[in-house]
Amino acid sequence: MKKLALLALPAAFALALTTTTAFAADGKAVYSDNCAKCHGDDGKGATKMGTKLGAKDYTDAAVQSAITDDQAFKSIKEGLKKDDKTLMKPSELSDEDIKASVTYLRTFKK
Ligand code: HEC
Repeated sequence: MKKLALLALPAAFALALTTTTAFAADGKAVYSDNCAKCHGDDGKGATKMGTKLGAKDYTDAAVQSAITDDQAFKSIKEGLKKDDKTLMKPSELSDEDIKASVTYLRTFKK
């Protein structure tokens, strides 16, 4: 009985750890999977898609300060259009993941 309890404890602990990791928003991972194809791994937007759509250089402090976190969140969540051209489709990411990806985008600022 005692032995069983000793075995069960680390197992429960390990489970708790993995679930936390799975649900905690990892900005870098979210960004790599959902944003980098346009905004680039380095935030410069120099990808094929980014160049075509006119993604800005997010290493530029002026570009970063031109947008608030709230505005960034809204544009990602609801999508962004310029005239009739869709720049970003409304995101299916959770609010938490969107916020984490914006926080990560901020780290590109030089
Ligand atoms: C299909 C290409 C594409 C994808 C995918 C994409 N973006 Fe964008 N995004 C753009 C373009 C183009 C613009 C408009 C020019 C700019 O601000 O870089 C833009 C604008 C933005 C803006 C400024 C919004 C505003 O209101 O001015 C932020 C912040 C942003 N993107 C973050 C992200 C994040 C974070 C992700 C991933 C969750 C993402 N984008 C995914 C193409 C994309």
